[in-house]
Amino acid sequence: MKGVILAGGAGSRLYPLTQVASKQLQPVYDKPMVYYPLTVLIASGIREICLITTPQDLPRFRQLLGDGRQWGVEIEYREQPQPEGIAQALLIAASFIGDHSVTLILGDNIFFGGDALPRAFEEFRSGATIFAYHVNDPERYGVVEFDAQGCAVSLEEKPAQPRSNYAVPGVYLYDNDAVRIARTLRPSARGELEITDVNKEYLRRGTLRVQRLSRGTAWLDAGTSSSLHEASAYVQTIEKRQGMKLGCPEEAALYRGFLSLDQFEVLLGGMPRCEYRDYLSEVAAEVRRVGLKSA
Ligand code: G1P
Repeated sequence: MKGVILAGGAGSRLYPLTQVASKQLQPVYDKPMVYYPLTVLIASGIREICLITTPQDLPRFRQLLGDGRQWGVEIEYREQPQPEGIAQALLIAASFIGDHSVTLILGDNIFFGGDALPRAFEEFRSGATIFAYHVNDPERYGVVEFDAQGCAVSLEEKPAQPRSNYAVPGVYLYDNDAVRIARTLRPSARGELEITDVNKEYLRRGTLRVQRLSRGTAWLDAGTSSSLHEASAYVQTIEKRQGMKLGCPEEAALYRGFLSLDQFEVLLGGMPRCEYRDYLSEVAAEVRRVGLKSA
């Protein structure tokens, strides 16, 4: 399974913040936003990752994430010159995806908790797996409708009259057909290749799995000033209460076995003295004490 992070867009809803740094580089409490989806991919065992962003922002992402080797992964970069849709990411990354399956995740979607995501990654074999999350404002999202048996029966992109409160979050697991499906799409009324149209094709073929994310899972999008602030406040609350950080690629890489403890400690040695490094040092000490399994 390969991973694609889409971190494009003009970020106009976050103007003037996005004048000098793209949306997905903005801080969500104590880390850049893109660390959160990146950590989801690493924690799911994905080692080959392609990050798609605008030509202007690409050098900044490269500066932040490098080639991924420091975390035991490989990160490649591709450009999306215009915001022409999420499904376009599948076309831009087609040569990277090759004949593999792919997880596409949006750079401004933040997930915490629950075991639905890791389970879905483990169970994925073919077709598509997407998720459904109960929200107050489904009209802002792709919306999935279920029948009485809990089977998905319709998908609509930002419907004025949503048929359910279940929004489709920005993480999608696809087999290799997704690239071929994306090639057949035409731009929607808003001029974009819609990811909902890819999902609808899987639904039509009978190979779409829609998993509901339970209450225990938090899904936040951080695309507006207030949702960005709320996401930061949420991360701060959890981190302070639990003394554990969310969205640390280093920690996920250690737990996944992408980095040995020695490599992890070398990585820490290169960081300035700061709270982030102190936290990771505690993680290392705990792993030395009790081992990886129980830490
Ligand atoms: C996009 C998708 C939508 C999905 C949402 C998740 O919306 O089109 O189906 O529910 O991401 O964040 P957009 O970011 O284009 O508003």
